[in-house]
Amino acid sequence: MAKLFEPIVLRGVTARNRIVISPMCQYSARDGIANEWHLVHLGKFAVGGVGIVFAEATAVVPEGRITHGDLGLWSDAHAQALKPLVAFQKAQGAVPAIQIGHAGRKASMARPWYGNGPLGSADLARGDTPWPIVAPSPEPVGPGWLMPQAMSAAAIAELTRAFAAAAGRADAAGFEALEIHGAHGYLIASFLSPVSNHRNDGYGGDRAGRMRIALEVAAAVRTIWPASKPLFFRISTVDGAEGGWSVEDSVALALELKARGVDVVDCSSGGIAGSATAAGVKRRPGFQVPYAARLKRESGLATMAVGLILDGPQAEAILQAGDADLIAIGREALHDPFWALHAAEALGVGPDFGLWPPQYGWWLERRAATTQR
Ligand SMILES: Cc1cc2nc3c(=O)[nH]c(=O)nc-3n(C[C@H](O)[C@H](O)[C@H](O)COP(=O)(O)O)c2cc1C
Repeated sequence: MAKLFEPIVLRGVTARNRIVISPMCQYSARDGIANEWHLVHLGKFAVGGVGIVFAEATAVVPEGRITHGDLGLWSDAHAQALKPLVAFQKAQGAVPAIQIGHAGRKASMARPWYGNGPLGSADLARGDTPWPIVAPSPEPVGPGWLMPQAMSAAAIAELTRAFAAAAGRADAAGFEALEIHGAHGYLIASFLSPVSNHRNDGYGGDRAGRMRIALEVAAAVRTIWPASKPLFFRISTVDGAEGGWSVEDSVALALELKARGVDVVDCSSGGIAGSATAAGVKRRPGFQVPYAARLKRESGLATMAVGLILDGPQAEAILQAGDADLIAIGREALHDPFWALHAAEALGVGPDFGLWPPQYGWWLERRAATTQR
């Protein structure tokens, strides 16, 4: 039996296998409300046999959206719109999960296909107007980007409450796993990193000060998010920038997150300067797996590996080496929504299309018999 297809128990939740759809923004919501695109986009991954499906970075307040098209969870109407998606995923045997976040100084951007940078005149003509943004320090991401306002301690406390309230709504919508987005240069990551945090109050300065907002958010979310449901936390394990956040910093953070009831650390990297995909870390298959391995070893937390994990055998090797507990798939799943079922085939699991939904599997079994050359 391949480890990739062994069920995993996280608190009171069991996923049928170790394959997770990584959160992927679709920039396709209006006023933060989920629609048919989200239902079909995420629903097809549940049909595709993965264990856990994460919905994209979902803003806890409207100003925390990356773009006008981001999902939100700042009202009960937002949670209500997600319920059909949750119900469909459960019916297909997947664990419905959602990532919550705040974009910080990378809020109010253009959608990727319209430039992936500051909003320009063409965006304004489409009605995508900029809004005031916040950050640890009044420093833009780069030349031409919006100037953020430094957050006051009162604004930070309010934000922490907004994260907790969004967690409560995620629970009410029926989600069974939740991830706090602390990566890619967005708000929490920008507090963690010495590249973007130049405060001299209790939320800046040394590592403990820079970690404070992450830990307060995690603690506040954990008090609202049910004890029976797992909490994930995504970090940029390294900034990949000169003088930036390091893997040693990540180990220290993971230990503190563990003490606050976080169950899984999701090990991404980069994004502190420029768009989320900007990273100083060289990309090759499995390039972030060593971070997941080190954090697992040194923090004792379960880890999720992500980043250019291309096929079942590669994913299986990561688990067999003990480098991670879960395998997150992003773009490969966009390319092949049946990635998990094809991985099962490659690993010799569930022969005769037994893992496929019967609506497909019954036919594919016969197709296989008739297409043998
Ligand atoms: C379309 C798209 C949207 C993404 N949106 C998010 C997001 O909402 N939150 C997040 O933490 N990462 C986001 N990412 C990063 C992915 O979750 C993942 O970490 C990254 O794509 C690397 O994995 P891959 O090589 O399997 O694609 C996004 C990536 C893509 C391709």
